[in-house]
Amino acid sequence: MGLIGKLAIVTGAGSGIGRATCRLLARDGAKVIAADRNMKSAEQTVNEIACDNVIPLKLDVSSLASVSKSVTFSIEHFMQPPSIVINSAGITRDGYLLKLTEKDYDEVYEVNLKGTFLMTQQFARAMIEHQIRNGTIINLSSIVARMNNPGQANYAATKAGVISLSEIAAKEFGKFGIRVNAILPGFINTPMVDSVPEKIKTDILQRCPMGRLGRPEEIANVIAFLASEKSSYVNGAAIPVTGGL
Ligand code: NAI
Repeated sequence: MGLIGKLAIVTGAGSGIGRATCRLLARDGAKVIAADRNMKSAEQTVNEIACDNVIPLKLDVSSLASVSKSVTFSIEHFMQPPSIVINSAGITRDGYLLKLTEKDYDEVYEVNLKGTFLMTQQFARAMIEHQIRNGTIINLSSIVARMNNPGQANYAATKAGVISLSEIAAKEFGKFGIRVNAILPGFINTPMVDSVPEKIKTDILQRCPMGRLGRPEEIANVIAFLASEKSSYVNGAAIPVTGGL
């Protein structure tokens, strides 16, 4: 119950890691805005958790207008901006470089890197304006940023960008009492991984010392730690959670 009295916003809350994170943060006592581009799936998250502390919000992280509307919503609804911001919205559009279309490059960039930038900038600004001194921003990168898998140039580049963005934000926002950290999940059993071809999945399982995919809750647990005061001196970190992959 270490998050009682805290307000959190989770993007990508309608599925996988975002949904598991909403559940854990609500269990720990936080009020949670479950934000997703897909409102139906955000509502499904809220219905599954069945706790008054969680409310759904339609949000497209790639749009400045939408992100700034969500800041206004938080302040109007809760009298303050969230002090916990989790950027879990993310997409893949895999393809080998020579075939990768401009559209697939742009879409991945817009959600994964620009979306993380807009959320980080707009919510940090609101925290500073409201004199929130113990903010924490947690960005979902990926171990792919380090492994650089062929066929994922667009995705890996954005996820490497998320690490740099988080490290720089940590340095710039430390003086305002806002910590920023990145998590690098390995292969986690969510709808995102459903699109990975079976042959690649088998190869990953063979290379993973734990011999299995991760569960969304296993990422959410690390997010809950970074959201809490237990991690009060963790700042600018990029934490792999991969089962040792
Ligand atoms: P998922 O595909 O299960 O869920 C992603 C959610 O983001 C969906 O509900 C989708 O509607 C939402 N979303 C997409 N574009 C959006 C936008 N523009 N604005 C708001 N919401 C949007 O994905 P999963 O597996 O839960 O991944 C969460 C994060 O973790 C992503 O950033 C992903 O890149 C990262 N990650 C996931 C791994 C995995 O193995 N599942 C591994 C490494 C990183």
